Amino acid sequence: QSDQRLKGKKVLISAGPTREPIDPVRFFTNHSSGKMGYSLAEAAENLGAEVHLVSGPVDVTAPRNVQLYSVETAEEMYKKMTELYDDMDIVIKAAAVADYRPLQTFDQKLKKQAGALQIEMERTKDILQALGERKKQQYLVGFAAETNDIRKYGLGKLEKKNLDAIIINDVSQEGIGFHSNDNEVTIITKHGKEKTIPKLPKKEIAKEILQLIDEEVRKKFNENS
Ligand code: PMT
Repeated sequence: QSDQRLKGKKVLISAGPTREPIDPVRFFTNHSSGKMGYSLAEAAENLGAEVHLVSGPVDVTAPRNVQLYSVETAEEMYKKMTELYDDMDIVIKAAAVADYRPLQTFDQKLKKQAGALQIEMERTKDILQALGERKKQQYLVGFAAETNDIRKYGLGKLEKKNLDAIIINDVSQEGIGFHSNDNEVTIITKHGKEKTIPKLPKKEIAKEILQLIDEEVRKKFNENS
């Protein structure tokens, strides 16, 4: 009998990049492969959870028994995440959502012109911030992809976005972070519990993250009952 400690829990995970269109053939995006988020979905499913995975465009295959919702833009991800959110017990935002999108999307392919091209960008919605603002029973976990002052910025996001925990990865280091098979993360909870998981395959990192979240959720439940 495998470990089913998340049985009865609903887990919502976001993964992958978003694509922000410029015209019918061009878009802005980033290097997220989806591996971190998909590993989390698989690990949660293996622990018996009902898993909902909202994903930007990626090449990885969704784990078995996971409900997959494919989206492209930050706006679509926002809509799907907020639609599913109220019912969830644990929410983990591993997606690399674009912070900006072109102010204007052209219906036809842009033609070459003389001189430089300027594309004006506007902010997208901060999905995690919105989820933090309407948080009720959910244990809400964000990621922070940082290149410098990683602790300081990570802790800033934990507080500002009303999270229960933040998972910080240093994306300036070779061989971890975006696209690689491995990662190295530090998890900090809002109660100040801190754990660094040294470099390991994302599938192993995901298992450790879920173990820690499960312990914290149980504690929170006991406090509230
Ligand atoms: O996909 P992989 O190749 O496996 O790479 C994994 C990863 C590096 C993408 C992942 O581990 C990671 O760090 N994901 C978060 C990337 C990110 O966008 O970080 P951020 O510090 O810019 O954003 C902080 C948090 O706010 C994130 O949880 C993000 O999902 C969320 N956010 C950001 C902007 C926005 N408009 N809406 C959001 O919800």
